[in-house]
Amino acid sequence: MADRAMTIAPRTHDARMRAADLAEEFHLPLQHADETLAPGGARLLVEEDAIELEVAGFGRPLRVDFKSPRLAYRLRSGGREQLLHACGVPRIAGVSLVDGTGGFGIDAFVLAHAGARVTLLERHPLVFALLRDAHLRATREPKLAEAAARMQLVHADAVEWLAVEQRADVVYLDPMFPPRRKSALVKRPMQMLEAMVDDETAERLLSAAIGSAGRRVVLKRPLRGAVVPLARDASFSLQGRSVRFDVYELP
Ligand SMILES: C[S@@+](CC[C@H](N)C(=O)[O-])C[C@H]1O[C@@H](n2cnc3c(N)ncnc32)[C@H](O)[C@@H]1O
Repeated sequence: MADRAMTIAPRTHDARMRAADLAEEFHLPLQHADETLAPGGARLLVEEDAIELEVAGFGRPLRVDFKSPRLAYRLRSGGREQLLHACGVPRIAGVSLVDGTGGFGIDAFVLAHAGARVTLLERHPLVFALLRDAHLRATREPKLAEAAARMQLVHADAVEWLAVEQRADVVYLDPMFPPRRKSALVKRPMQMLEAMVDDETAERLLSAAIGSAGRRVVLKRPLRGAVVPLARDASFSLQGRSVRFDVYELP
């Protein structure tokens, strides 16, 4: 993340204050939106009521929207999600859950919609700002507000945060997958993330999560990815179509 030049660019005259606040908060330079993005660069395009992420080489900018039809479909069929079963959400009303790898917040929104109280951790400044913007817009949408109210966002490194913060029932982790040979199968938002964020080893995250969680840790992995080598093997795994959830039950 450090070697990709990052900037903040207001798209309209009225968005200048919002952009300036973001630049100050994340210690990033401001840029005019009509300036070309530097090769290898990434920036937030700021409007008064929404923020988009532009990553050099990835075409049109990306907006995270919890109102998207794709997510709406997931929410409708939510009870069948392996993610929810792995995290125990349908069974544990009001479960407290830390999503240590917030990303675009999609998994976290599914979990919050199903009733979990979710704290999302995201360490990348541009990804965090994008996520926070999507969350803010969701709090104003009648159909999404209840789930959004169960989400709390924290700009932090999960390994550091989990070492000091009090226990949640469940810690959920979805670190970047190892590069896949069939890159056409990886969706554009995830390709943009892959191009921007540092790789965090699943081992470091998993060991911090096991030291912090009260009941269980859930780690998302590629379906055929190796079990993360840790002293204790997963208690059980649930398989989806292309991913697997390794569940570590804690004593
Ligand atoms: C695969 S994405 C998560 C996608 C997410 N589950 C979703 O539904 O959108 C992984 C994210 O974890 C973040 N990340 C990786 N290591 C982290 C750490 N140690 N602390 C906080 N965030 C981390 C990355 O910046 C990236 O945004």
